[in-house]
Amino acid sequence: MKGTFPVGRFTHLATPFYYYDLNLLQRTLEEIRHQLKELDWPAAQVHYAIKANHNPVLLNHIAASGFGADCVSGGEVQAALRAGFAPETIFYAGVGKADWEIDLALDAGIGRFNVESRAELEVLAERAAVKGKVAPVSLRVNPDVAAHTHKMITTGRAENKFGIHYSVLEEVIRRAQSLPGVEFIGLHYHIGSQILDLGDFKALCHRNNRIVKELQAHGIEIKDINVGGGLGIEYSHPNRFLMADFAGYFRTYSDELTTNLPIHFELGRSIVAPCGSLISRVLYVKDGLERHFAILDAGMNDLLRPALYHAQHRIENLSSEEELEPYDVVGPVCESSDVFGEQVMLNKCRRGDLVAIRSAGAYGESMASQYNCRPLAPAVFSSTE
Ligand code: LLP
Repeated sequence: MKGTFPVGRFTHLATPFYYYDLNLLQRTLEEIRHQLKELDWPAAQVHYAIKANHNPVLLNHIAASGFGADCVSGGEVQAALRAGFAPETIFYAGVGKADWEIDLALDAGIGRFNVESRAELEVLAERAAVKGKVAPVSLRVNPDVAAHTHKMITTGRAENKFGIHYSVLEEVIRRAQSLPGVEFIGLHYHIGSQILDLGDFKALCHRNNRIVKELQAHGIEIKDINVGGGLGIEYSHPNRFLMADFAGYFRTYSDELTTNLPIHFELGRSIVAPCGSLISRVLYVKDGLERHFAILDAGMNDLLRPALYHAQHRIENLSSEEELEPYDVVGPVCESSDVFGEQVMLNKCRRGDLVAIRSAGAYGESMASQYNCRPLAPAVFSSTE
């Protein structure tokens, strides 16, 4: 089965472009709210991770649905504010916050700085004090929990650059409590992305339970916990699994966390990946010695994930019902890694056929570049039909 695309409408459009199904986005947002309600968990708040996709139309929808925002740069904080996210629901993480970014976030009155090092804590406290403000702070803990995902998107191991190792956490908290420019509030984690094994989140819960218990025993008050994001999606079956397993994900946390504190989630991919596809045309079908190549007008500059992580997105020929044939689906960029998939079974391809690269709503448009002086692919939305 192929996805349901308005192919007739696509035929008039220049390719490549990103197509977003805003209905699916809306249903996904509703499903998240529904699952949290089922668990009777009003103290849980979801902050959409803007890095997954900062397209303003999507941001407006997500903000209007009452979600918070998770940012990793000053630019993302500005994008969140422009989209209407309430400042107090905007959280800002990142190992390298520049002074101007800290100032901008302080001026906006964002809800939380997720601080990743003692050095950053000192700078933040100083800059806040100069402004006569007190920055609300969570400390990002490196829990040393392995996530079963691609090694380039695992973040919670001791050797990763992220967070403060839990062995020195208490010392950094005490320092935060002594600085007038910051208010220590809680703990922040994020162990990685595209995680399908819920056991990884369970391991994080157990590590957190131990850390919180120990800190509390030492008289430290923790007011909330932010467990980050990371929930994966089924890239190979986008039609069968329209949405991520939000029920299983939230239940894991509600079952395994022993602390009774407000919980924050920072989901990115699971919210926007399914609703987006990169739509492209076949420029040429080239018969190699042993393989057929379908050469698309979309390249790795439009969707970097396959080249960078060997990620596999489902690819469909929207213009053909002819017999299935194996193709190496490649882009026009002058790099051998500009490959979307090898030996992909597609309905027989001809020049001009429309091809959809599915589940590209997360880390697609937001990671696009103009490499090879190629223009950025525009976005097209379902609701403007
Ligand atoms: N919170 C923090 C602190 C993060 O670093 C990330 C993602 C998230 C939340 C959202 O994680 P998600 O729910 O989307 O898994 N470009 C890669 C993914 C990089 C993820 C970076 N951090 C990819 O295309 O797979």
